[in-house]
Amino acid sequence: MDILIVGGCGYVGSHMTKQLSQAGHDVVILDNLSTGFREPACYGELVVGDLADSIFLERLFQENSFDAVMHFAANSLVGESIIDPAKYYKNNVSNTLSLLNVILKFNVKHFVFSSTAATFGEPEYTPIDECHPQKPINPYGATKLMVERALQDYASAYGVNSVSLRYFNACGADPDGELGEYHDPETHLIPLILQAASGRRENVTVFGREYPTTDGTCIRDYIHVEDLCAAHALALESLVIGKITGANFYNLGNGNGFSVQEVIAAATLCLKNRPVNSARCRPA
Ligand SMILES: NC(=O)c1ccc[n+]([C@@H]2O[C@H](COP(=O)([O-])OP(=O)(O)OC[C@H]3O[C@@H](n4cnc5c(N)ncnc54)[C@H](O)[C@@H]3O)[C@@H](O)[C@H]2O)c1
Repeated sequence: MDILIVGGCGYVGSHMTKQLSQAGHDVVILDNLSTGFREPACYGELVVGDLADSIFLERLFQENSFDAVMHFAANSLVGESIIDPAKYYKNNVSNTLSLLNVILKFNVKHFVFSSTAATFGEPEYTPIDECHPQKPINPYGATKLMVERALQDYASAYGVNSVSLRYFNACGADPDGELGEYHDPETHLIPLILQAASGRRENVTVFGREYPTTDGTCIRDYIHVEDLCAAHALALESLVIGKITGANFYNLGNGNGFSVQEVIAAATLCLKNRPVNSARCRPA
């Protein structure tokens, strides 16, 4: 299949690009390199551009015949979304609607969207399942929920078939050691711990030691990026074979939480046994 990966230079998108390309698909990456990097795009054809540029976007769809689009591009820093919500509504909602409208115009049949567990807000029960009420507590979560709602309406009115995958915390790296997680600024716990352990950061701050957990630190659900991408591939396959139609929503976590202190302990143990190597990307 010909697949467009929007945001394929980022953490999750680059792993997805590799998986799809190794499965024999032709992948084009659209990325504006705002938070992503050229190097991890080595498994697809990189087109540098911005979703906000509608003329460029239409031209890309005119010049290619995409069977499916996977949409990873977004701004995703919760704190920043509170300080500068306009940036989030523009990039995560408005730009995604532009993408959806081009998909409609060019009759692309399948759409997979990166949503987030932040659409749920404070957990009313755990584990959080798909029936849990969605009451986001920050603009980031709200923007992703808006796109979910739009996808429902686009399915009813225009027949757009989609899967939205609500990730908990993506983590881990490509087993070949070619790709890994790198954000600047980095806000995710595991890379922060590994940076501190390898001397690239002075320390890791633990925020909060009075949570109602056994060690008092906050518990989060982590899902390995390879599993996350495998779920995307299954979602796409289910759309393609017609097993699912309309707008579909699934949570992606592992169902077991780990506290901050447990993650630090696990990383410490790993690092004792294995030196950290810098990830390299092989040319396509
Ligand atoms: N990483 C996680 O733990 C996590 C958890 C829940 C949801 N998500 C969602 O998954 C998706 C991928 O997350 P990530 O960690 O890989 O993020 P990332 O920042 O590493 O990747 C996003 C990519 O999109 C590109 N991009 C952003 N805006 C763009 C635009 N207007 N035009 C073109 N390219 C643009 C960036 O340059 C970057 O390469 C995001 O939508 C995020 O909200 C991630």
